[in-house]
Formats: sequence, structure tokens, C-alpha cells
Amino acid sequence: MRPIRIALTKGRLENRALNLFQTMGLDCTGMIKKGRKLILPVEDYQVVLAKAADVITYVEHGACDIGIVGKDTIMECDAKVYEMTDLGFGKCCFALAGKKGVDFYAGHSEKIIATKYPNVAKKFFEEKDMDVNIIKIEGSVELAPLLGLADAIVDIVETGNTIRENDLEVIEEIVPISARVIVNIASMKLHKEEIEAFLADVELAKEIME
Ligand code: PRP
Repeated sequence: MRPIRIALTKGRLENRALNLFQTMGLDCTGMIKKGRKLILPVEDYQVVLAKAADVITYVEHGACDIGIVGKDTIMECDAKVYEMTDLGFGKCCFALAGKKGVDFYAGHSEKIIATKYPNVAKKFFEEKDMDVNIIKIEGSVELAPLLGLADAIVDIVETGNTIRENDLEVIEEIVPISARVIVNIASMKLHKEEIEAFLADVELAKEIME
């Protein structure tokens, strides 16, 4: 039987997850000395480094048993996985933002929204009963209103620096976001004991880290 695999989102969440694993008492030498390796041994686990959306894909399809990923990606992907716990780090929020001093709701023309999260944006405006034209952008979404491509963006705001430094402003905060632990549905049955033990250790570490 292969080890329990944990898919971990590369980048911002990586160091926080390392800190979590260390607090859980796991020997993280394999993560600290990773070099360009993508599958890392952490005690009896295999930690797999992947982009956020791929973390969900690997966990949904059972290639990994457990995932650590932001609520933003979970909301966007709408995957069939169990969301087990809020890790309390990687905190930010989804927000609607536009050019400073411009009334987004003025006028009757259909607004153009740029976003990396089209499903989240679609749901947000559906709830407002507002027809919008959504354009998918891959990164630095803040550029879209500045370049005249969009009237506003739906994006993540963490410190607010990107918004501020580019003369944009938050029009509305949509929902708070943080890192979550997800689990594959079949793994939860097949490896119940191991996964429950992992989750119990996560909860203990969360208390220590608070
Ligand atoms: C995210 C997000 C914003 C920025 C917000 O982008 O899309 O651009 O961070 O952070 P702040 O409020 O602390 O400034 P990220 O840096 O992940 O990269 P990307 O723009 O290439 O997607």
C-alpha cells in the first residue's frame, strides 16, 4: 500500500503548512531540503507540491488522499471532496474592486468583470440579479480595469497593497478565505484510521499555533 499522500499548494501556503507539520511533530527535513523535488517524504506521508487547482484535481480523483488548499480554489472548482477543517492561515478575502472614485453601479450598460475566478464572480452577480460579462484573466487581474478591459474585478485581497498601489478600491467584500484541509471521499473510508489520526494531529497543532 502506498503512503498517505498530501497535496500541498505551492507558494504562499507552503511555509505555513511546513510550520503546521512541524508543530504536529513531523520530521520535515524532506520539505526543507526539497530542491526541485515535487514528491517529498515527511515521516510516513508523501507531500506532493502542486498548483492550487491541481491540488483539488489530485484529491478529487484519489491520486492524493489529503489536500491543503485555499477556500478560494475550493469555491471556484466545486469539487466532490470533503472539506474537513479551516487551518486559520492564508487569510484573505474575495472582493469586488474597481477604479478609485468611479461609481461601479452607475449607468445601465452591462458591466465587464475581469477575474481569475469566473464561477465565483458568476455566482456573486447572480445573487445580485445583475447581468455581467465575465472575462477570465490568469494573473495580475488588477491590470484589467486600469487598461480599460473591465469595469471591475473579482479577486483576492490580502494586504490590500496591490489595490492601493494601483489606484483601485474595494467596492464590496464578498467572502473571507483561508486555507482548508480537503480529503478524497474514498480515502476517508479506505484509510479512515490514518486520516482521522492526521486530522486529530492537525487540530492539536492548530491549538498550539493559535
Ligand atoms: C493575488 C491576488 C492579488 C494579490 C492580492 O495575486 O490576485 O493580485 O495577490 O494581494 P495583496 O492584497 O496582499 O496585494 P498573486 O500575487 O497570487 O499573483 P497573480 O496576480 O499572478 O495571480
